[in-house]
Amino acid sequence: MKTQVAIIGAGPAGALLSLILHQRGIESIVIERQSKPYVLDRIRAGVLEWTSVELLESIGLGERLHAEGHRHDQVKIGWGGNEILDIEFQKLAGKPMMAYGQTKVQEDLYAAAERENLNIIFESSDVELHDITTDSPYVTFTTNGETQRVDCDFIAGCDGQHGVSRKAIPDNKRTEFERAYPFGWLGILSETPPLPHLLYANNEKGFALCSERNPMLSRYYVQCSLDDTVDDWSDDRFWTELLARLPESQAELVVTGPSIEKSIAPLRSEVIEPMQYGNLFLAGDAAHIVPPTGAKGLNLAIADVHYLSEAFVARYAGEPAKLAAYSETALKRVWSTVRFSWWMTVLLHRFPGESSFDQRMREEDLAYLTRSESARRSIAEQYVGLDY
Ligand code: APR
Ligand code: PHB
Repeated sequence: MKTQVAIIGAGPAGALLSLILHQRGIESIVIERQSKPYVLDRIRAGVLEWTSVELLESIGLGERLHAEGHRHDQVKIGWGGNEILDIEFQKLAGKPMMAYGQTKVQEDLYAAAERENLNIIFESSDVELHDITTDSPYVTFTTNGETQRVDCDFIAGCDGQHGVSRKAIPDNKRTEFERAYPFGWLGILSETPPLPHLLYANNEKGFALCSERNPMLSRYYVQCSLDDTVDDWSDDRFWTELLARLPESQAELVVTGPSIEKSIAPLRSEVIEPMQYGNLFLAGDAAHIVPPTGAKGLNLAIADVHYLSEAFVARYAGEPAKLAAYSETALKRVWSTVRFSWWMTVLLHRFPGESSFDQRMREEDLAYLTRSESARRSIAEQYVGLDY
């Protein structure tokens, strides 16, 4: 097969890149390891920056997003037992955020791929990248027991943190920056009405988060030990621990119920530099991982795809400069977002073995946020997303 851009991975980054390129007249073939139902079954992020909302609107994906998404003008942070501070995005940063599950974004992308006849090849294994530093790179993979080859001009590595693309950059050309956090998030879905606002909480017992997927589907998290397994956490233990970590006035509002999904995810920060090598370009989790505290993973993938698609469009119009500068351009937002996600994680979690001084400094940060509108504006503008 031959195409202009071969895309590895049909998660949010790969599927979005293929759709935008198609709408701008650039052909692509997407090679995805899993089946379509498998990708759609993943429970992932739940918050879109307004910048992401506007991008999805611009490619015709605004209808369901506005019909089923829930626009939020603020989030709440519980701290010091029963303190609550409001981060009022609309008032402080002039933009809201949209609660809309990544699963729905993926469904919308796949529906658009069907409508626009995009070429996504699911259940492909043994993907290999070849000749990425030449002008004739190609990708081989196996599907239906047969080895396939895609000749292309460029390869976009959108294959996430466990993908093969990042490793195609030689070890002596690739720098990996990483921070593993000494705790995980235990998350559940319950068919119960969510709180009116997203609520983050820092508590002596650890972090908690109350979020949503729709008016009758809630998403809750508690910080847990990396040694924990889902079996260590009955629903009763989960709800007891969650409510104990929330300010009482908020805990009273939580409607508990049986979990229909329960999973534990480790938290890590990671950046791969550079995000391009020869004719290979990385986007999304293939290039960086952020802890979910800042709700940035999906939004950063969308931002990378914005920069990369603009660069491909310019390149095919005879302007190669943007593509040559893609990594430098994308990394500015990546590092800014990685810092914000790290900062929110340190602000809101309890670190095993930390001293009482560390927790007091954390509580002073939260007290300062309560007093200072400028400090709250700083969080607000980063949470809803800086302009591209
Ligand atoms: N060959 C082909 N496809 C692969 C390979 C491979 N070797 N390895 C991984 N993939 C596929 C995965 O099956 C997945 O569907 O690449 C896709 C990568 O998608 P994501 O991991 O969702 O990453 P991305 O598209 O960058 O989206 C980032 O997804 O994981 C969340 O928290 C993350 O919200 C963020 C968003
Ligand atoms: C979610 O709804 O899953 C969610 C919301 C906000 C976060 C992280 C996860 O910061």
